[in-house]
Amino acid sequence: MRQLWHRAFGGGFTQDDADHAFGGVHVLVRVGDRLVGHASAVPRLIRFGDQPWRSAGYVEAVATDPEHQGAGVGTSAMERLHDEIAARWGVALLSTGRATGFYELLGWKRWLGLSYTETQAGVVLDGEHGGLMVFSRDPSALPDRTMTVTCQDRPGDAW
Ligand SMILES: CC(C)(COP(=O)(O)OP(=O)(O)OC[C@H]1O[C@@H](n2cnc3c(N)ncnc32)[C@H](O)[C@@H]1OP(=O)(O)O)[C@@H](O)C(=O)NCCC(=O)NCCS
Repeated sequence: MRQLWHRAFGGGFTQDDADHAFGGVHVLVRVGDRLVGHASAVPRLIRFGDQPWRSAGYVEAVATDPEHQGAGVGTSAMERLHDEIAARWGVALLSTGRATGFYELLGWKRWLGLSYTETQAGVVLDGEHGGLMVFSRDPSALPDRTMTVTCQDRPGDAW
């Protein structure tokens, strides 16, 4: 998986990014005996507006080997991951810098409200959140996307 992430993210994938990918469910796509695709979802506590904290799936480390991109590997990994998300959490979130269009094709929606992180120093506004997205297979379970949303801090990128 580390080799795949390194190849797909061009070396910009940190140890924290790798750590974030573990603790939930992984989808692996293989061609022959070669790993060409990965996506995982991990449980995180998330707060929508001023509602109680709730568990949501958080998607991490989605990658297709560059030699296999554009052939549906990422789509099949995410569709399989959607099954696992639906069975566990109902609602999932992710943050992406450059793949918003890829996730929109899969039914993900951009988060429209402000996003925050709960840290030891208090709740802080997150500055860079064009890329926060939300997914639910059940439209009635989708939170109001104009609300604020808060995650809990962790090493590396909080979101
Ligand atoms: C993003 C990524 C996982 C997509 O994997 P993939 O196997 O190439 O995706 P698919 O072949 O299933 O593509 C499905 C559709 O998404 C589109 N798409 C793929 N990457 C895209 C991107 N970065 N932005 C917008 N659209 C994208 C494809 O053009 C395709 O559209 P089409 O069906 O109209 O032809 C892959 O490009 C990758 O590993 N990128 C580098 C790592 C990365 O950015 N991961 C996401 C981090 S949040």
